[in-house]
Order: sequence, then structure tokens, then C-alpha cells
Amino acid sequence: MRILRTAAEARAASRAWKREGLRVALVPTMGYLHEGHLSLVRLARARAGRVVVSIFVNPAQFGPAEDLDRYPRDLARDTALCEEAGVDALFCPDAGEVYPPGYATYVTVEGALTAGLCGARRPGHFRGVATVVAKLFAMVEPDAAAFGQKDAQQVAVVRRMTADLNLPVELLVGPTVRETDGLALSSRNACLTPAERAQAPVLKRALDAAAARFEAGERSAAELLSAAGTALAAAPLARPDYVDLVDAETLEPAGPALVRPALLALAVYFGATRLIDNAVLTPSFGSC
Ligand code: PAF
Repeated sequence: MRILRTAAEARAASRAWKREGLRVALVPTMGYLHEGHLSLVRLARARAGRVVVSIFVNPAQFGPAEDLDRYPRDLARDTALCEEAGVDALFCPDAGEVYPPGYATYVTVEGALTAGLCGARRPGHFRGVATVVAKLFAMVEPDAAAFGQKDAQQVAVVRRMTADLNLPVELLVGPTVRETDGLALSSRNACLTPAERAQAPVLKRALDAAAARFEAGERSAAELLSAAGTALAAAPLARPDYVDLVDAETLEPAGPALVRPALLALAVYFGATRLIDNAVLTPSFGSC
């Protein structure tokens, strides 16, 4: 496995593979890899002859009071996991390579895609994400890039940014990978205390409670949100940041009754650690 540290090295490796007729897929990450990332590596591998994993804890997507310093890091372990997973190259630029002195260019996706959910709670977050993903695409020049559905709003933002900037990158979206108790895998799970970890599966239980009502025919957004909220309230260490229902495609508010696929999205604090999860609720048509 090659270790690439500069944009020039990443671009040269990618172009050489393309000259051999190989497709290149990128899995952008902030490291502290887990099975969710490795599932994206497998997805990328199925669609490309060469897989690059990038590891960069992107300061531009963290607010001043957020967990940039606490964000878990272990490059040696990540390198071993990538090697084992058959990754062809690890791209781990330092902050000065990505944001050199004088850096002044940012990508902003405007409108409903960034107005609500994490966009409302984390001002500037998606500007940082869109900027770094656009830069990673420019540095690695991948044919495809893989993202996880757990970060549903990020997927929507990156999809819009990729289309709007005419970037020739196919987006691959992998399903959320979960622990056996339902907790969605996230690098931030490592920051939970044992007591918080024990209660964290409540996010999935809240999604399941709303989904069960939905499957039973409930279409009222207020009722579905209340089902999720009641489930969350059963975990005393959980402090909901938001529980929201939005249109699954536009991320606009879902309206009082669900008639189109909706994204039920949660963000919940356990102490200083903020976890997110989501489920898509799809009304079926033609049945009565
Ligand atoms: O999902 C993440 O880990 C990050 O937001 C990403 C896409 C690597 C950009 O920094």
C-alpha cells in the first residue's frame, strides 16, 4: 500500500492508474477507521480497480466549540486496517497541504440542503465538508467516491456540490453499519463513557419506534416525531439536539403528513459526544 502525503503525489498515482485503464475510487475519511469505513472500501473496490482512502481531520468542518482536539486519531492502526483491507493507497495530507498559508476559497451549498438538521446546529460545518471534499476530488481525481448513509445530509450536500461543480465523480452510498445492539458505527463512539455507550443504542430504538408506527399506517409527522422522542426520553444520559422529519431528497420540512419519502434524522448528545443516525420512511403507493 502506498502512503501519499501531497496533492502532487495523490494526483500522480491516480493519473498513472488511469493510464493503465483502471478506475480509481476514493473513500474520504477522518480516520479512526471502523467497520463502516471498511464496508465503504469494499463498495469502492467493487466499482474500481484502485482504492484510495484519505485520512484528514478537517479543521474547516469543526466549529470553535466543537471536538476537533478530542476527535480520536490513530494513524498506525488505520494504516494497518487499510493494508489488511487491500487499500491501494492511503492519502494523509497534513493541514498545511490542504489549507496552505493564505488559503481563502470555500465551497458553500446553499438552501434547504444545509439550512436544517446539522446545518442549523453546526454553522459552517457543511461549508467545511463541501470545501474539503471538493479539494479531495481535485487532488485525487477519483472516478468514484464512497460515503455512508449514516451521514445522510452530508451525502445530499456532496451530491449537490458534485453536480453543481460538474465534477466527474460517481457517488457511491453505503448503508449504515451497526453494532449488534443497533448503535451506528462512528469514530465518535470511542469518546463515550461505558455508561453512555450502554445507553447510546437508544438512537436506533427511537428510529425503530417511529418506523414501527409508520409501518402500522401512521403518517402524522407530529405523531412519528413524538414516538421517537418518547423512546429517546427513556435514556437519561441522552440529550437530543434535534429530532426531525424532512423530505428525503430536498431536506425541506416534511409537512404535517408524510406523502413522500421522508428522512427521520436524530442528533443526540451523550455528555460532550454528539451522535447522529437516521432512517428513511417511504410511503408505499397503490395499497389501501
Ligand atoms: O464523513 C467524514 O468523515 C467527513 O465529513 C469527510 C467526508 C471525510 C470530510 O472531511
